Amino acid sequence: MTDLLDMPVREAAPKLHSADDFAGMRKAGRLAAECLDMLTDHVRPGVTTEALDDLARSFVLDHGALPACLFYRGYRHTVCTSINHVVCHGIPGPRALREGDIVNIDVTVIVDGWHGDTSRMYGAGPVSPRAKRLVDITYESLNRALAIVKPGATVGDIGHIIQTYVEANRCSVVQDFCGHGVGRVFHDSPNILHYGRPGTGQVLKPGMFFTIEPMVNLGRKDVKVLSDGWTAVTRDKSLSAQCEHSIGVTETGVEVFTASPMGLFQPEILSA
Ligand code: MF3
Ligand code: CO
Ligand code: CO
Repeated sequence: MTDLLDMPVREAAPKLHSADDFAGMRKAGRLAAECLDMLTDHVRPGVTTEALDDLARSFVLDHGALPACLFYRGYRHTVCTSINHVVCHGIPGPRALREGDIVNIDVTVIVDGWHGDTSRMYGAGPVSPRAKRLVDITYESLNRALAIVKPGATVGDIGHIIQTYVEANRCSVVQDFCGHGVGRVFHDSPNILHYGRPGTGQVLKPGMFFTIEPMVNLGRKDVKVLSDGWTAVTRDKSLSAQCEHSIGVTETGVEVFTASPMGLFQPEILSA
């Protein structure tokens, strides 16, 4: 996702894409989703996050695609693995998952120049009821946003529906990172904030491509970035969850480029 501090004050007008461009994003989005599908059975207690990263990198390269995160702004991995109170940009390493951990895996692939960017939540074995509840709320907040995407709706409508739902469930929305335009460029305009006021911001038009990727905390919304320069964590150490789709605005609504071919986007997380 985009770090808001890096963004120019005035946004460039979002690109409007053609039918051929939709076909390009469909392929990239599908491969990204297949990569996350492939990881599902590997996410269990004892696996290290670097082993998951290795699996993802091999999968992407074996399918003739490029891992967009590898060497992106000095990042050295294919996926981000964000465990428990890590909000986003967790760096794969020797840490093994423990039973009860929740982890977000975020992958972006480049196919024929198009970026497919998606993340979802996994559980290592059964997780606590509060962790499962957080994951369910995060998933539902994205779903509610997808349901209102169509020409004429605004970016503020998207943020508002996510924030309203999350806060009604006594959770908080992270405000320091946002979704982003996506396509031939990894992080493009428009910024997609996951909070906001109805009717404000850019008006959605057919042919716009962007991600929606809410980060939701069980506690307060405040985050900090660790000294590695990447790992964002909740300041109060409360659990955090995220899910992300790359989408296109169609004449009548939305096309989700990163839907799971195996129907695994909605986390099948067991509660302890
Ligand atoms: N995939 C992330 C996003 O949703 C970006 C990760 S950038 C990285 O936009 F360098 F940390 F990998
Ligand atoms: Co993204
Ligand atoms: Co992503």
